[in-house]
Amino acid sequence: MRIDGKAYRTIWPTEDGEAVAIIDQTRLPHAFEIARLETVEDAARAIAEMQVRGAPLIGATAAWGLWLALRRDACDAALEAAIALLARQRPTAVNLAWALEDMRRLVAPLPEGERAQAARQRAMALCEEDVETNRRIGAHGLGLIREIAARKGGAPVNILTHCNAGWLACVDWGTATSPIYQAHDAGIAVHVWVDETRPRNQGAALTAFELAKHGVPHTIIVDNAGGHLMQRGAVDICLVGTDRTTARGDVANKIGTYLKALAAHDNGVPFYVALPFSTIDWSLEDGFAIPIEERGPEEVLEMAGRTEQGDVVRVAIAAPGSPAANPAFDVTPARLITGLVTERGICPASREGLLGLYPEQRAAG
Ligand code: MRU
Repeated sequence: MRIDGKAYRTIWPTEDGEAVAIIDQTRLPHAFEIARLETVEDAARAIAEMQVRGAPLIGATAAWGLWLALRRDACDAALEAAIALLARQRPTAVNLAWALEDMRRLVAPLPEGERAQAARQRAMALCEEDVETNRRIGAHGLGLIREIAARKGGAPVNILTHCNAGWLACVDWGTATSPIYQAHDAGIAVHVWVDETRPRNQGAALTAFELAKHGVPHTIIVDNAGGHLMQRGAVDICLVGTDRTTARGDVANKIGTYLKALAAHDNGVPFYVALPFSTIDWSLEDGFAIPIEERGPEEVLEMAGRTEQGDVVRVAIAAPGSPAANPAFDVTPARLITGLVTERGICPASREGLLGLYPEQRAAG
């Protein structure tokens, strides 16, 4: 997508061929900075500290991280150590394990001397696939928005989204935002309610930034406003991403997603989840078996912001001494989900729905 007229992806190999470049998302929206990853430890740190985040981008970064590891040492032990290091950085998004397994399958049978080059090519291809997958998700989701627009006689379609399932969470396009960008580009009037998404504010800091750069009308709301807006008919559709979706269609996504799904259910608002195949965990049925990342209390007890002087500072927002809990994801049961928007089409959030789109998993399972 474009930032001030220049096309960007979230991750790419540097021109000197020695490293990987990322947009440092911990600096957004106040500063746009590119960071350089030179080692697998850099890649692991970027994932852990959320310089890169969002399920598909975490997977892509892990793939590039493995290339960085294998350039240094391509023996079996180094390969396994790098996979273990990258895999333990964030537990919920299954794309991380998926990308690492994909890379291992490719490089492990190769002679050591060929592994780094093969890993580089695969990381590159994985990124290209991510872009195309998300473009397709958008093409399928566009139909949903078009239908609502037609029903409303061209009045803006109000879409509520949570966290950042935008291009910053992927290599490009985004999952939940891809239909929105494609609708906007097709001339359909859309307006996005952007949940701020406490505690890290991915909605206010990242989704709003993206949408603004692309010229998509949007409004930031506090996380608790969604239900109120739905009761008043101000939301036509909810469209969110996911970090892991089970074989029966339960969805783990950023904390607060479940409450939006409950409110949508109570108010008859369609609630769709957009995802690529790499986010489906076919080994799990029950969403409550998904590991939920617990992050540090400082994310809840402090906030970062820009002062009038332009300095970015952290401030405490709670009385000293109170403890805080910070579960980073929640699980929305399939029964609350109207449909899953994938690169292969839209299906009910159910085992049969998913198998209808991915019939090859019948044999695998
Ligand atoms: O903690 P984050 O910012 O990595 O969480 C991201 C989300 O929950 C997104 O909504 C999800 O990964 C979908 S990304 C296309």
